[in-house]
Amino acid sequence: MKSLLLGFILALNLIPAPVEFKPSEGTSTVDNVVVRKHSFGFRKAVRDLPEFARKEAYRLTIGPRKVVVEARTDEGVFRARKTIEQLQALGEVPCGVIFDYPRFRHRGLMIDESRTFKGAQFLKKQMDAMALLKFNILHLHLDDSAGWRIESETYPDLTAKGAFRIGAHYMEWEKSGYKYSTQDDPEAYGGYYTKDELRDLVAYAAERYITIIPEIEMPGHSLEVTSAYPGTSCTLEDGTPFKGAWDVCPGSEETYKLLESVLTEVMEIFPSHYIHIGGDEASMAVWPKCIKCRERMRQEGYTEVSQLQGYLVRRIEAFVRAHGRSIIGWDEILETGVPQSAVIQSWRGISGGIKANAAGHKVVMSPNSHLYFDYYQDLIRKEPRAWGELTSLRHVYSYEPVAPGMDETLVLGLQANLWCEWIPTVEHAEYMLWPRGFAVAEIGWSPRREKDPLEFRDRADALRHVLMDMGYNTFDLDTESELARSGYRTFDAFERAKKQNN
Ligand code: ACM
Ligand code: ZN
Repeated sequence: MKSLLLGFILALNLIPAPVEFKPSEGTSTVDNVVVRKHSFGFRKAVRDLPEFARKEAYRLTIGPRKVVVEARTDEGVFRARKTIEQLQALGEVPCGVIFDYPRFRHRGLMIDESRTFKGAQFLKKQMDAMALLKFNILHLHLDDSAGWRIESETYPDLTAKGAFRIGAHYMEWEKSGYKYSTQDDPEAYGGYYTKDELRDLVAYAAERYITIIPEIEMPGHSLEVTSAYPGTSCTLEDGTPFKGAWDVCPGSEETYKLLESVLTEVMEIFPSHYIHIGGDEASMAVWPKCIKCRERMRQEGYTEVSQLQGYLVRRIEAFVRAHGRSIIGWDEILETGVPQSAVIQSWRGISGGIKANAAGHKVVMSPNSHLYFDYYQDLIRKEPRAWGELTSLRHVYSYEPVAPGMDETLVLGLQANLWCEWIPTVEHAEYMLWPRGFAVAEIGWSPRREKDPLEFRDRADALRHVLMDMGYNTFDLDTESELARSGYRTFDAFERAKKQNN
């Protein structure tokens, strides 16, 4: 059965590869598209699928002129239309029957708007590509020390004092000593989304069946918050606020007032059930010196400052849950205690995801071992400055989100993250996203089956040209090095594998 399926897929140039394609003779002119939402046969075919998959499932019966779309929902019809659109863009719609539905319910990309502010036009353009690839989640990292990017009516200084900085490139900002500025400073770099712009983005996403998950980062990565509102910073023995704190103070009530107020504004704009609250890499450096943190520890009977992170996360989780939503947090939040309803996003490799899954949490897999798109996609000497280990298209494609022993029903899906410290322009951001995003789309949608990386590469190259024609700046697979193409991460591993094969 496996090889049979593979045979069918080879005949269809499409990303993500569908569950099933039964080809027939010839190609279609797609003159006439008929939509059937009440087909009994189709309902029967999807009856046993999980609800999320049934919702997105579709069947396309492609004849020489006419195409019949069967689906239960408008979302299913949309996915089907994107299949036709992609096939047309690739030059040929082969006749036959495509039956298709997603493997995972969370197929996402994260874009870091703080380190580089990219703006609505860029996000809309990426959502167009995402829709073509059947992505359904766009996670926006809306604030970090390098800039607060979302208008707040209740805490206006977050943008007035925290959305502009000295240094267009993140590394220039570091060199400036992390200086902020204001919008009227002609030398300042920055920007933020107004609420109207965000509502417009949410609507644009919804038309493409994409949910935008907003992230408000806490308690770490928050220098812009403690700078704009010193009441959220730690308090020294003499009663003055600590200047330059990267974490908000989990002892201060001002912190909760601000975070809850901002989250209320965020939940008004974003209908997403999941609200991301960050939770990664809190330095906790100032907390032991802070009178409010020490008082909080005394009240709660804590012996370690790290317990304060758990206190903050649990308090915010309860607040978000009281509003009928749920939190997602980076895997650190697992370490200091968090209720079952919290979704854990595994980024420090897969171990956080495995632990969270074993503890009964839903997980999103974003391991930096495979899905960090700020990492090099080819040799350091030929690529713009990046981070991390070689994360080529083939390496990304090799990723399997459900590690042995994991409960697949708790794996919501996967997500690639585009952190932007080393990505100063929108062109560069696109270059890092595509075509590696194709691999994420396919892993998220297509059934688990034996992968043929060379066959995938051919499909990726064809689709890359479609994106290039549409005006996207993609990484050039034609110039990809032999090492990146091999999927190995080091020359040593590559050479060893070659020797073993000889
Ligand atoms: C992260 O990359 N710090 C989540
Ligand atoms: Zn404190």
